[in-house]
Amino acid sequence: MATKQRRILVTSALPYANGSIHLGHLVEYVQTDIWVRFQKTRGHDCTYVCADDAHGTPIMLKAMQDNVTPQELIDATGEEHRRDFADFHVQFDNYHTTHSEENRYFAELIYTRLRDAGHIAVRTIRQAFDDQAGMFLPDRFIRGTCPHCGLEDQYGDSCDNGHTYSPLELRDPISVISGRPPVEKESEHYFFKLGDFEDWLHGWIDSGEHVQPEIANKLKEWFKAGLQDWDISRDAPYWGFEIPDVKGKYFYVWLDAPIGYLASFRQYCDRQGLDFDAYWKPGSDAEVYHFIGKDIAYFHTLFWPAMLHGGGFRTPTAVYVHGFLTVNGTKMSKSRGTFINARTYLQYLHPDYLRYYYAAKLGPGVDDIDLNLDDFVARVNSDLVGKLVNIASRCAGFIGKNFSGELATAIDDPTIYQPFADAGESIAQAYETRDFGRAAREIMALADRANQYINERQPWVLIKQPEQTAQVQQVCSLGINMFRALITYLKPVIPATAELAEAFLNENAPLRWDSPAQPLLGHCIERFKPLLTRIESSNVERMVEASRESLQATPEPNSPLVADPINAQIGYEDFAKMDLRVALVSDAELVDGADKLLRITLDLGGETRNVFAGIKSAYDPAKLVGRHVVVVANLAPRKMRFGISEGMVLAAGPGGTDIFLLGVDQGATPGMRVK
Ligand code: 2FM
Repeated sequence: MATKQRRILVTSALPYANGSIHLGHLVEYVQTDIWVRFQKTRGHDCTYVCADDAHGTPIMLKAMQDNVTPQELIDATGEEHRRDFADFHVQFDNYHTTHSEENRYFAELIYTRLRDAGHIAVRTIRQAFDDQAGMFLPDRFIRGTCPHCGLEDQYGDSCDNGHTYSPLELRDPISVISGRPPVEKESEHYFFKLGDFEDWLHGWIDSGEHVQPEIANKLKEWFKAGLQDWDISRDAPYWGFEIPDVKGKYFYVWLDAPIGYLASFRQYCDRQGLDFDAYWKPGSDAEVYHFIGKDIAYFHTLFWPAMLHGGGFRTPTAVYVHGFLTVNGTKMSKSRGTFINARTYLQYLHPDYLRYYYAAKLGPGVDDIDLNLDDFVARVNSDLVGKLVNIASRCAGFIGKNFSGELATAIDDPTIYQPFADAGESIAQAYETRDFGRAAREIMALADRANQYINERQPWVLIKQPEQTAQVQQVCSLGINMFRALITYLKPVIPATAELAEAFLNENAPLRWDSPAQPLLGHCIERFKPLLTRIESSNVERMVEASRESLQATPEPNSPLVADPINAQIGYEDFAKMDLRVALVSDAELVDGADKLLRITLDLGGETRNVFAGIKSAYDPAKLVGRHVVVVANLAPRKMRFGISEGMVLAAGPGGTDIFLLGVDQGATPGMRVK
């Protein structure tokens, strides 16, 4: 290609190592992967790295519950994440973990440089402490009302409107571990003095290149509110890196999480023999892009550039923020079956369907995108199958049967073909600016033109006239070349389909962005096999059904561990109606066909109950047997898809791997009333 080859490093946000990848996560990984594949197809030197975000209290607690070491937990989750990404064709050049020696090195390096330059303050603070659980509470284990905007039922560190605060500022706080208000306790903490970087950050943001306009506006609000010192330490017990020279204090997970971008790239450089510093030294001409969701913009547009600058590294070329995913117009929901894990999706549907649908919906801004499942089926079937693949399937048969698979030696009508070759620049500009929706529209407009051309030339009529045989080869060869141009442009979006198309086109090298400039002439193609079939609505329905579960003990992903303690007040009389009993788990097993449920047999002291609990993501059934739990014994039996549930075991947690069964002393007797 004529343009200069760029050196580009790209990252996506690091997923936590204690939960499964779901369709909400995939918006970002698909968006980033498309952008990276596009850059590579253009011939640029583009590297895509990521890692699991493997530290923090939730991971420590989950490992304790499962009776495994945190290392075992993060290894297993890391494997699952890698498989899910690979099966969605999200192709990282390197996937690491933040619990690595590379990450420890960079975390310590950046911290000590910041400390030595006077950007770390130490002071004693009062913190939320759960005296029942015996530990300081991580921000995300406290919920309450945002002190800035009054939004209720928010996490302890930031709210959905983008405000950040300390957990003790939160109004009406509740510990999500015990469901009780936390107490305050003193502890010495380490702070990053973000305010030291205010002028520098203003300059960085005002340059207009590094953040989207919507984020620049948000930043103005954050500056106006004042940049607070950031607490980067946590007390033992904590799963993470101990702060150098400070016993019993650990780096907060968010301190070493973005440093994981450096660590993963370092590991890649070591493996590939590349020069890490050429990318990360100040003034480097390499480009560095972070793709993130809007909920973590504060970390990536304030803390992270300031940490890099203060730590002696270059800062990002740009941080690209995307919106959230809604499904059928609302937040993903377990009860509606729209909280869909990557693996569940893959059991029913082809990954290219979702990749295309997300691409068609994504723009350069931070707007949320909606996965409307009916529209998803209609759009994919119409665009990918009805328009794109149809071009090849309409032409290939004639070429195979009548011309031994050989394409004509010249383009029938260059004025028809030329717009397909010329469109590359405009479509490239759309990809470059992450306006994938525009790219999809332009490609589909060309697909309409290709189909219209075939309709007008009617090769199926021409083939019946022996003197028109050569015309059939001309028309169908042009059709195949139009298809080839379009598949080239869609290759970043639908890589698996593009790979099949490449095999069909039988060229000796993969398609590159400029391939359409040289049409395939006098060349033998392979026999056509269907590249992609229509989505059957029944598969979407089955996927939703497989994701749908009772709300029992499976709170929505962002809900508090105790059921809405702030809004849904009940009187004591209502509470007293609950008959809470100690029960012994005598058996526990997976439920065939259910992603989230366990079937638990409970001994209530002579009486046996069958209960379905949505705790599979957090508990190994074999390890439940013999435990004492608390059951709501007078809950009316409830008919579920898998049988009748005769009670409810009490558990709390934000969901995924963080669901905690209410523990009962082993000395308790089954059937005993809990007061
Ligand atoms: O919000 C999250 O899911 C974090 N695990 C993202 C971390 S991104 C980066 F900073 F590491």
